[in-house]
Amino acid sequence: MAVLNQLTSQQAIDLENQYGAHNYHPLPVVLTKGEGVYVWDVEGKKYYDFLSAYSAVNQGHCHPKIVEAMIAQAQQLTLTSRAFYNDMLGKYEKFACEYFGFDKLLPMNTGAEAVETALKICRKWAYEVKGIKENDAEIIVCENNFHGRTTTIISFSNDPVARENFGPFTNGFIKIEYDNLQALETALQDNPNVAGFLVEPIQGEAGVYVPSEGYLSKAKALCEKYNVLFIADEVQTGIARTGQLLAVNHENVKPDVLILGKALSGGAYPVSAVLADNQVMNVIKPGNHGSTFGGNPIAAAVAIAALTVVQDEELAANAETLGQLFRSELETYIQTSSIATLVRGKGLLNAVVIDEDENSDTAWNICLALRDNGLLAKPTHGNIIRFAPPLVMDKTQLLDCVSIIIKTLKQFEK
Ligand SMILES: Cc1ncc(COP(=O)(O)O)c(C=O)c1O
Repeated sequence: MAVLNQLTSQQAIDLENQYGAHNYHPLPVVLTKGEGVYVWDVEGKKYYDFLSAYSAVNQGHCHPKIVEAMIAQAQQLTLTSRAFYNDMLGKYEKFACEYFGFDKLLPMNTGAEAVETALKICRKWAYEVKGIKENDAEIIVCENNFHGRTTTIISFSNDPVARENFGPFTNGFIKIEYDNLQALETALQDNPNVAGFLVEPIQGEAGVYVPSEGYLSKAKALCEKYNVLFIADEVQTGIARTGQLLAVNHENVKPDVLILGKALSGGAYPVSAVLADNQVMNVIKPGNHGSTFGGNPIAAAVAIAALTVVQDEELAANAETLGQLFRSELETYIQTSSIATLVRGKGLLNAVVIDEDENSDTAWNICLALRDNGLLAKPTHGNIIRFAPPLVMDKTQLLDCVSIIIKTLKQFEK
């Protein structure tokens, strides 16, 4: 078939433009192969991947153990739906519950679906355990959040592009400032209808905003005080990205509800999950929630392999060490830079802030130049570039990347 012949980059871009909905604005580079920290475009040029599919490919591209598990399971049994049992799901649920320290797991596919699942569990818990009158439950969320793209999730987004002309929206959410404990306590006080607090331990899409030290543990304590579920969206921050298995581990917080996605499969397959203990998860009964593909045998096999790689290769410790090195190298450069003003982040989830306003195209142009220099990254805003390589990177590779980034930023100095 002609369409399967090797395309040039321009041909591939033209095809997407003509036949694909224009719901993304990708950096113009067309990738055809990935291995570890590297990806290759269709013309054969090699790049460092410094985005990792928004932190899904923490284990590196095409990790052989994950691919092997996926192929073996694909040859055995791919999908049963949940109409029947399969012999992989229970194994995976036990493995993941022990791995993360929860009683039960509810399997889904994408991050947004897992967030939706968590919201539904929280509401049901509010009515059936906390005793809130039906339809009165409210969930506190943070300004500048990013939890996905479904109608309910964008109902509490404050990104105008994500919301415009998609109403009417879902009620029952209270928005407060991120990293503001007083705002959280005010929202909790005198409001017996609050069921949960949904929070990203670091706001990734907003531009890698790391909250003040103690924010998460104190927010969790407030949730306990007011009998409200602390729901951590670790879709982007989880699974070793920030230098701990979960970002909440930095503050020894155990969420009441944990949301995972992305790197749960190492980027090989859409796998997401919600974890909680019995007193919360047991509100879910047959017929309340589900998904044809959620918990399918391939997803189960892939997730076990992906989580095993994280542990065996000590990716959290590597992210911690390399993250500190990355920030200290960039901080040294920034002291004398006229273009970069700040580097912030935790582990290998970092952002560099550019001396421009939020709507400028400088960050985009820097990403184009980074691409030309052999490194792929993407702006979160006109003045913020996120840097999140696969966690299997080594020190030599990281220093090579730092020199590419600094060389490129220097091209834009004023
Ligand atoms: C914190 C967070 N939650 C949820 C999502 C949505 O995940 P998905 O794109 O798999 O639906 C994302 C995606 O970037 C995310 O960063």
